[in-house]
Amino acid sequence: MTTRKQIESLREKIREHDYKYYVLSMPEISDQEYDGLMRRLKVLEDAHPQYKSADSPTVRVGGGILRGFKTVRYRQKMLSLDNAYSFDELKDWEERVHKNLKKGEMVEYVAELKMDGVSANLTYEKERLSVAATRGDGQTGEDVTSNIKTIRAVPLVLRGRGIPEFIEVRGEVFMDREEFTQLNKEREKCGEVLFANPRNSTSGSLKLLDSGIVSRRRLKFFAYSLGEYKGERILTQGGFLKKLNDWGIPTNPNSKLCRTFDEVIAYCRLWQEKRQKLPYDIDGMVIKVNDIKQQERLGFTLKSPRWALAYKFPARQATTEVLKVNYNVGRTGVITPTAELKPVECAGVIIKNVTLHNFDEIKRLRLKVGDRVLIERAGDVIPKVVKVTGHWGRKAVVIPKNCPECSGKVVKEKEEDVAYRCINPSCPAQLERGLLHFASRSAMDIEGMGESAVAQLLNLGLVKNFADIYRLTDRELSKLELFKEKKIRNLLSAVQKSKQQSLSRLIYALGIRHVGEKAAFVLARHFKAMDNLVSAKFEDLDSIYEIGSVMARSIIDYFSQGSTKKLIDGLRQRGLNFKERVFESGHTALSGKTVVFTGELKEYARSQAEELVRRLGANASSAVSKNTDFVVAGENPGSKYDQARKLGVKIIDEKKFSAIIRDGSA
Ligand code: IVH
Repeated sequence: MTTRKQIESLREKIREHDYKYYVLSMPEISDQEYDGLMRRLKVLEDAHPQYKSADSPTVRVGGGILRGFKTVRYRQKMLSLDNAYSFDELKDWEERVHKNLKKGEMVEYVAELKMDGVSANLTYEKERLSVAATRGDGQTGEDVTSNIKTIRAVPLVLRGRGIPEFIEVRGEVFMDREEFTQLNKEREKCGEVLFANPRNSTSGSLKLLDSGIVSRRRLKFFAYSLGEYKGERILTQGGFLKKLNDWGIPTNPNSKLCRTFDEVIAYCRLWQEKRQKLPYDIDGMVIKVNDIKQQERLGFTLKSPRWALAYKFPARQATTEVLKVNYNVGRTGVITPTAELKPVECAGVIIKNVTLHNFDEIKRLRLKVGDRVLIERAGDVIPKVVKVTGHWGRKAVVIPKNCPECSGKVVKEKEEDVAYRCINPSCPAQLERGLLHFASRSAMDIEGMGESAVAQLLNLGLVKNFADIYRLTDRELSKLELFKEKKIRNLLSAVQKSKQQSLSRLIYALGIRHVGEKAAFVLARHFKAMDNLVSAKFEDLDSIYEIGSVMARSIIDYFSQGSTKKLIDGLRQRGLNFKERVFESGHTALSGKTVVFTGELKEYARSQAEELVRRLGANASSAVSKNTDFVVAGENPGSKYDQARKLGVKIIDEKKFSAIIRDGSA
């Protein structure tokens, strides 16, 4: 097969799997197999750029960075809907529909879920997605084509029969709750501002100028209405949804054709109860007259169609009083303020506490203790404060200077950070996570010190900081559940062995914020001994190429604490290795070797990785040849990967590479 044919056939296969997954909800292959197809296609396209195409599935990984968005003018306005807030209002609408049609005329309805996302318009010309834009003001929207193209559910090329020459498909871009929670967790780790809900994170994602980031956000799409259209006549809304599916465009599978209005109401009631079971947020139902001819006769008001209505689920809100503000210390040391409320019922649940998220939020709400507040149980079950409805309180909420759990220092690490955190490594609230990290394979590698052992050691009060691990006795360990002689012996010997770990591993194991494996390695190489690092000044750290000022500040904060000094002394007394073995140049496992990198590395920028291998006496080259000793392949490796395979050159992944760098042996 020619390369061009191979590329075409891979594209076709991938499109077919997208259709099976997103439209039919019947995936046929595993995610890994799918990724494999994508990778093969990417490799071929990279090696033969003349066959690249704007609607190849590989564009979904995004890439290009835009300076800003152009605007798009709609041929047919993107309208919004009238709302009903009760079943009575819904019935009033039904009456109006009948009044505007002939007496006794039969009307069928389609009841759809009202997706709580961001609406978008996709324009397909001659089967291909040409432009995708946000709603904007309804008349003009923002051209977000490159971002929308990263959404796997959006076909880049239509399939099936009777594809219209031109069609504007409207629908909702959204994010599953799970994905949103995950995204916020990552943002919290990086000290970034959190998104309030999946809708905000969807809208934030669509406005990103770097589509590479958007592609990692796993947005989804369901279509539900039609804009400008040139094609075979469409007779009903139900038929239209079906046609979209045939053309490869996903729609929400829960729409229902209702022959009576009682059915409509029963269906709304059903989803009002069941909506939590969905993986995404909906904020109501949309009811549409099914017959397009009837729709045309009903027409539009200035703002919205007369043939459709949004039924909004009742707001789950209540007002009450803030009695007190408490501070919670999370496992990463983040201090989260929570409001203790005068108990109040909200949609069937008694609410006594509500998270205030962070101190910026308190400032935004201008909240004081004693205020009356409006609370809401939004899409997710966790209640939140919407606003202060009565500024009754006088007592301002202060940001604690010391941790409520351990009195450790509370700091905000960067000016633009939202989170305040306790940085005492022995804070009981953080110790569990800290110990697990300390003992983990890439840190001190203490086998047998997993979740259950750590939890028990803490509960029994046997370990209060990392140094205590090195005083554990077999008598003490025998108190742990399921710890018999052999297990105790193994754990004690793993603990002993870990004392000899390299300084870089020890620095990493301490869990200093922002100091990952690579930074720990750089610090160990630079300072050579723990004491030099402990007494380093900000300028000493800041002047190291790989250590930024944020990390330098974090290291200074960490070592300036009394509890850290005690910990370091404890570790010294227990005989841990505080010195870095420094390889004489010419004697490392990498010396004289030729290394080539391909693909994206997670931990290292390409230039840093090359710098590291050079420092270990190796040569970092950009092309693979017979003389290459090994290739380090990150994610989405390029043609160098294939070249290496062809030449039989050893290929290693990033994990293995990190291990070589860390331990100095290949
Ligand atoms: S139909 C002319 N169907 O709700 C009819 N809209 O307030 C256009 N929405 O802007 C809309 N799910 O963002 C329709 N199944 C659905 C919907 C839906 C969510 C959103 C859409 C629209 C807003 C209307």
